[in-house]
Amino acid sequence: MLKIDSINVYYGNIQALQGVSLEINQGEIVTLIGANGAGKSTLLKTISGLLKPKQGELLYENVSIAGKPAQTIVKRGISHVPEGRRVFANMSVEENLELGAYLRKDKAGIEEDFEKVYQLFPRLKERSKQMAGTLSGGEQQMLAMGRALMARPKLLLLDEPSMGLAPILVKTIFDIIKQINKDGTTILLVEQNANMALSIAHRAYVIETGKVVLSGTAEELNASDQVKQAYLGGH
Ligand SMILES: Nc1ncnc2c1ncn2[C@@H]1O[C@H](COP(=O)(O)OP(=O)(O)OP(=O)(O)O)[C@@H](O)[C@H]1O
Ligand SMILES: [Mg+2]
Repeated sequence: MLKIDSINVYYGNIQALQGVSLEINQGEIVTLIGANGAGKSTLLKTISGLLKPKQGELLYENVSIAGKPAQTIVKRGISHVPEGRRVFANMSVEENLELGAYLRKDKAGIEEDFEKVYQLFPRLKERSKQMAGTLSGGEQQMLAMGRALMARPKLLLLDEPSMGLAPILVKTIFDIIKQINKDGTTILLVEQNANMALSIAHRAYVIETGKVVLSGTAEELNASDQVKQAYLGGH
């Protein structure tokens, strides 16, 4: 579905990604593990068109999307939930969700997806008229995910969805990610919580200072000493 081949991405003179290659097959949950500053968010931003690779290729459904405008990429079926849940604080839950569907014209489909999102996140339905800025952190994360789903993506990019959430809510969010995947959406998941991420992912990549240093099935990485040492607390 997505094939990234040897991309180099820079911020000015600083190289943030060095020859990164990665593949995502339809139906998978793929997780990207790495320390702070490794380049995880940079990779997601490059896929969603917010950054342009200087070299390398990005093929989505066999068509190059490298450097295409973000809006074009959303239209093609890729939605990005950025780090730190950027919801529109002065708009209601409902209005935020409507905005997620702004590129769509299929009214009936949009209605269907409202129902789906409210089913996945009953809390959002209860709070549909509340201003997004007054939601709790966890509720804002749900809203950010719900808004991305309103674009009916084929590929969903999630940047640290569990950040700052209480353990019970982390479990809920991971259960919902699994459910979204079961319903047919392919997922690229960036997580600091490597344990949880590997427990739901099919495959994983480890990224260190802008380079992919390890990849394999979730089971393989779970069993890897290198991963245990650096990302699973050494157990
Ligand atoms: N706008 C920017 N301008 C300059 N450098 C940047 C910019 N954004 C990120 N970087 C640098 O690029 C590198 C990769 O950053 P990135 O945000 O992709 O890391 P990350 O893996 O997502 O980290 P974290 O887990 O802390 O979110 C870091 O060294 C960071 O300082
Ligand atoms: Mg990040």
